[in-house]
Amino acid sequence: MRLFFALWPSPQSARHLATIAAETAARIGGRPTRQETIHLTLAFLGEVAEERVPELLSIGEALRTPAFDLCIDRLGHWRHNHLIWAGCSEIPAPLEELARRLSRKLSDAGFAVDNGKRPFTPHVTLVRKVPESEAETRLPGIEPIAWTCSGFALVRSRLASTGPTYKALASFPLRAD
Ligand code: 2AM
Repeated sequence: MRLFFALWPSPQSARHLATIAAETAARIGGRPTRQETIHLTLAFLGEVAEERVPELLSIGEALRTPAFDLCIDRLGHWRHNHLIWAGCSEIPAPLEELARRLSRKLSDAGFAVDNGKRPFTPHVTLVRKVPESEAETRLPGIEPIAWTCSGFALVRSRLASTGPTYKALASFPLRAD
């Protein structure tokens, strides 16, 4: 099964981000992310054998890095994969710590973590298939969106022609202190 670890927003933050996704796609083109699929990937695993899921649950449960607040305050555009995304000007240290420790634990356990080799660029994909002709479009500024991160999830992805569907298999709390 195709799996990844991610932060999932509150319904309110997801609604806000989905509105920006729809407005941006209406302006620039491309396919906006649906509200229920909005997330921020911490570690992408790809195909994993079902019998290895218990190992992933143990890794998620053992992590317990500190909870933190995210401020999503900017849009970005990646030409190579035709994405418009939302991110933060200041990446909170506990987010870096969470992603770093998670990737390290997964690699140590023998999982192929695709984003483990590249610098972690936290992003929420808002629009896919952004038209090539619009690649240089200047992106609008956005009102900052507060996102309280008190846990993260192991998520299963199913791909379909209408877009992916995601199902959280388990959620793990971050440390509130
Ligand atoms: P994206 O939004 O930048 O495409 C589920 O597919 C999640 O995993 C998405 O957030 C997606 O990032 C990410 N993802 C998919 N394939 C990936 C890969 N090869 N490396 C890193 N992240 C990937």
